[in-house]
Amino acid sequence: MATSPSSDRGAWSGKLGFVLAAAGSAIGLGNIWRFPYMAAEGGGGIFVLVYLGCVLAIGIPVLFAELSIGRATERNPVGAFKKLVPGTWWSAVGGMGVLAGFAILAFYSVIAGWTVGYLWMAITGTFGPDVDAAASAEIFSGLIGSAGPAITLTVLFLGVTAVVVRGGVAGGIEKASKILMPVLLSVLVLLLIRAVTLPGAGAGLEYLLRPDMSELTPKVFITALGQALFSMSLGMGAMITYGSYFPKDASLPFAGTAVALADMGIALLAGLVIFPALFSAGMDPQGGPGLVFVVLPTVFANMPMGHLFGVLFFACLSIAALTSTISLLEVVVAYFVDEKGWSRPKAALIISLACFVLAVPSALSQGANAWLTDFGWLDVQNIIWGNYGLSIGALLICIFVGWKWGTDKMLQYVEMGGNPVPGRAMFAFVVRYVCPVAIGAVLAFLIITREYF
Ligand code: PHE
Repeated sequence: MATSPSSDRGAWSGKLGFVLAAAGSAIGLGNIWRFPYMAAEGGGGIFVLVYLGCVLAIGIPVLFAELSIGRATERNPVGAFKKLVPGTWWSAVGGMGVLAGFAILAFYSVIAGWTVGYLWMAITGTFGPDVDAAASAEIFSGLIGSAGPAITLTVLFLGVTAVVVRGGVAGGIEKASKILMPVLLSVLVLLLIRAVTLPGAGAGLEYLLRPDMSELTPKVFITALGQALFSMSLGMGAMITYGSYFPKDASLPFAGTAVALADMGIALLAGLVIFPALFSAGMDPQGGPGLVFVVLPTVFANMPMGHLFGVLFFACLSIAALTSTISLLEVVVAYFVDEKGWSRPKAALIISLACFVLAVPSALSQGANAWLTDFGWLDVQNIIWGNYGLSIGALLICIFVGWKWGTDKMLQYVEMGGNPVPGRAMFAFVVRYVCPVAIGAVLAFLIITREYF
């Protein structure tokens, strides 16, 4: 165990423990629910292209910036900035991250609740061979549009998250990730084979893989940037927190890169399952947040052992969502444990209850309450916190590492424990100039064009 400032902190059991837990945080609804939905909003192929650029040029550098801050300080995001630059405003960047984590958890757990609802429906055989596009859409709106199930499932999900976080990092988080991540990958690969061999699947592949340059707007940039950050759990300190549990004698560069590539791979895989299936079933890509939930049952309906695949898929997705909600709650809990001296159980309980209160409007915004539904509360939360909050957070983190703390320090902590970083100067240049300029330009563009959503 690494030395830690408080006995209630804990540490990963080793490099593999970190990779699994960080991949568990990164891989979640962001890859499977949000990626296809944002890709459809961003025009398909052009979105995917900009997203890939964002992961490589911004996501990976920001990931290492966050991990190095965590590793250097062994603190939560607020404590980390306090320790590195005491008595300055920088700790507010950490504070924003804690707030973003809380707000994201509040809508994320609603969607995560839907996955549990779908798991239940898959088990009980709701997605039979007669489920076509229209029937599937009806099943979806039936589940999410009724206040009772939507709220119950959210409570259930937050409750389980709180119980795991209460148990501490190595016990709960690692174990959950270790088992189900490989299963999720295998199920996705099998679904991919089914989806691309459906009649009319080619149109979906083309939609996702052939960029249409005429669709390139400022909105595509913010959507793709926000998606890259959201999917990699960046811009709000989750990776500062996870880096803070990284053993000092283990090597980080490879572990971090593996997490980034696994996350990107799963998102692309999900897209390659969803869009061919969507076009094959003759659906509209502008499906909004329900996209994955409506499309996939039509795939299960059309495949041998579809029942089994449905169960396996939603079981894995629920666990993938859980390892992500754990990391969201963990950021907020780590803050209260480290900074306010709360015990872990107290922090986990109080924060998850407060989060539930904020989750209620999201749960009711899918049909149960007319005003919240018209307002599109959940979509708005997703875009404000997911796209804008994380982009601003990532911008400030790059400015901090590039101009205040120093890229030498960053590289020192990335390299601690072995494995030099190839192209150090280039890496430092990207963090100092490329990331802040690129993110700043996207935000400036949006302010000028006023095309925020
Ligand atoms: N990366 C997670 C996902 O893709 C969501 C998340 C965002 C988790 C930000 C932590 C912090 O599902």
